[in-house]
Amino acid sequence: MEKVIIFDTTLRDGEQAPGASLTSQQKLEVAYQLEKLGVDVIEAGFPIASPDDFKAVEAVAKNIKKSIVCGLARCLKDDIEAVHSSLKKAKQKRIHIFLATSKIHLKYKFRKAENEILELARSATKLARNYCGDIEFSPEDATRTERNFLFKVIEAAINEGAKTINIPDTVGYSYPQEIYSLIADILNNVPNINKAIISIHCHNDLGQATANSLSGILAGVRQVHCTINGLGERAGNASLEEVVMAISTRKDVFKNITTSINTKEIYRTSRLVSTLTGFVVPPNKAIVGKNAFRHEAGIHQDAVIKKRTTYEIMDPKDIGMGASELVLGKHSGRHALFARLKDLGFKLGDEKVNEIFKRFKKLADKKKEIFDDDLIALVEEETSQRKKIYELVSLQVTTGTDIAPDALVKIKHKRRAYQAKSTGDGPVDACYKAIDKITKIKAKLLNYKLEAVTKGKDAQGLVRVELKAKGKTAFGRGASTDILEASVKAYLDALNRIDS
Ligand code: KIV
Ligand code: ZN
Repeated sequence: MEKVIIFDTTLRDGEQAPGASLTSQQKLEVAYQLEKLGVDVIEAGFPIASPDDFKAVEAVAKNIKKSIVCGLARCLKDDIEAVHSSLKKAKQKRIHIFLATSKIHLKYKFRKAENEILELARSATKLARNYCGDIEFSPEDATRTERNFLFKVIEAAINEGAKTINIPDTVGYSYPQEIYSLIADILNNVPNINKAIISIHCHNDLGQATANSLSGILAGVRQVHCTINGLGERAGNASLEEVVMAISTRKDVFKNITTSINTKEIYRTSRLVSTLTGFVVPPNKAIVGKNAFRHEAGIHQDAVIKKRTTYEIMDPKDIGMGASELVLGKHSGRHALFARLKDLGFKLGDEKVNEIFKRFKKLADKKKEIFDDDLIALVEEETSQRKKIYELVSLQVTTGTDIAPDALVKIKHKRRAYQAKSTGDGPVDACYKAIDKITKIKAKLLNYKLEAVTKGKDAQGLVRVELKAKGKTAFGRGASTDILEASVKAYLDALNRIDS
């Protein structure tokens, strides 16, 4: 069997998705889960980009034991040194350097000639190699780069010690056949290519990221860059769950190929990333969408009962979906709650766990059965906020079919409580207007979505909002058995992200 290395870039390219930013604590939580999932390489961030990014890479490097921890750098001394120092405590480390090579980037981004780029690739690889034995080099926009120049850059990087050559389809422009022939050309034309592993990094602008990655594997690629839920810049990156499940489901095509992914951790990881980033997984998303294994049509349901494989090419259990839905209730103790949270992939500090336990008890008083999704919603609330700059104290709303909605909202801000009253087009609007009066922030509501967290009349409502204020956009979430309270919590959560 030949192994395809899974290089996860959820914490770097994934986090570049607008609105998906994570705190370093949240990044660490995702990294622990990625390690449990079995990814070979975790790209933890771009240390030079911000002190926060540096801190996150440092924290991941210090705590992750099995996976290689990687940081991204441009071909610049300061970038490379920042990665080097952020990775000092890593058990296994990698420096990933990138440099655009396509004509359009050379002309408009760098205003540099090919020979200058070639020299930069050489010197940066050499510098990085002095700091680390494991160097990955990416000729950015490789798929739009003139072939002969691409071959020269790759050859130079390998000569200077790059162990992995990653081929990015940076703008998601390619089709599977093109990727296949590009990889074949690289194998046939770069004289020292046998000294490196070829990797692929596909974006999804034309919806081809997974297909392109798979085509790369068939052509000889032995490392794939991917992200959980396909998170990433613009339309995202190749999704880890799709690439891995395609390899394991289509053994007839990927005959001698294997990965080290524990597929049973896929669903849990997907949920965790969605929870922490606020990016909802569409119900029809392949592999991890809520509908991915649901059968609505009677004919399908009947056939699946008779023989599951009539309409299911994968077993949901293989990705950890529909595994035990242990129900907790008001008599469940701290121990049962902690065990369940751990099982769901959350690694929380004592302080957070105590806070969640208090909230759990309150919820259990209102709701007979607490499902996994209820717990996830609780953790979401407790961990999503960077800082609780604004916190809900109380809420009173009068509304009805013949009266204008009227809201009185009380909020804590810097240890002081403030309140304001407002009417609105509806009760949610009235609440939001009252909040705006208190915060004096002109926030624009871009999106509002309400869904039930679980089944039953006593189900919690989960509200997700997207706000624009102070030139930033942010997601916010709030859950409660009262949907107005959930709406206010979501709005404040987004404001907290904007202000932190
Ligand atoms: O899309 C891209 O080209 C990248 C590189 C940094 C690998 O993300
Ligand atoms: Zn990318």
